[in-house]
Amino acid sequence: MWLPGSVRAVIWPNGYPRRTSSKRREFPLTATEDLFTPIHKAIRSMIYGLGGRLQSVDFVDQAASTAVLADLQHEFANAVSATCVLCLLHGHAHSEETGVFPSMQPIDPGLIRMLLDDHHEIRRRLIALTKMADELGATDSPERRIELGVRINREANEFFAFYLAHMNKEEVTIVPAMKEHFTDAQMRAMQGAIMGSMPPERLSNYLRWMLPSLTLDELTGMLTGVKHGAPPEFMQFVNGIGAANVDPVRWATVRQRVGF
Ligand SMILES: [Fe+2]
Repeated sequence: MWLPGSVRAVIWPNGYPRRTSSKRREFPLTATEDLFTPIHKAIRSMIYGLGGRLQSVDFVDQAASTAVLADLQHEFANAVSATCVLCLLHGHAHSEETGVFPSMQPIDPGLIRMLLDDHHEIRRRLIALTKMADELGATDSPERRIELGVRINREANEFFAFYLAHMNKEEVTIVPAMKEHFTDAQMRAMQGAIMGSMPPERLSNYLRWMLPSLTLDELTGMLTGVKHGAPPEFMQFVNGIGAANVDPVRWATVRQRVGF
């Protein structure tokens, strides 16, 4: 049904509404860059893995539960050096807010408002989980540890479900919107700025999760981009992480396809 531009709304396939921007381009765009899906794959792997460990760990066993708790304890005061899973989840939301959302804000403020509201909710749940993990870590009573463990597992499942739904939402809203409004070169520049502002330890942690989470074609595309668009030291950096974390046969295939 035709509607005047001022009242027309685009309904995305999943039902999320998005206002049509008056600044929308009038020619078909061919951008293929996707700043969200590869890092989201890394985050899904973190969530699936941590969820599995969390629901089976024996919280009475302090030694066994230390590593799981460490992944749940976000140090807000020291987010730069932290490597726990919740820290990486929190860091990712921050990267989107500083490196991507500002570019989309003038184009579709309603969409950005919706995504930022999700990020606030993510932050609220993340603080609650960290507090619960701190409390469990400081408790010696076996009964209390079991009780807190059940609560943490339940809260973490709620948090993970919310985070997963949020990533799905971004992939059907802001990902196509960016392909519509930005060129590949512009999106690569945004990605470069995000990665360039990240401490190497944190970048290394994201890549450690991301590289084994991608398909062979995605890895080939990513490494081709690095080979042709980044300094040789960065290629070496990525190759070191890939060789240590991706299945050796798959990594050898990527090396052969890309030529490095
Ligand atoms: Fe997000």
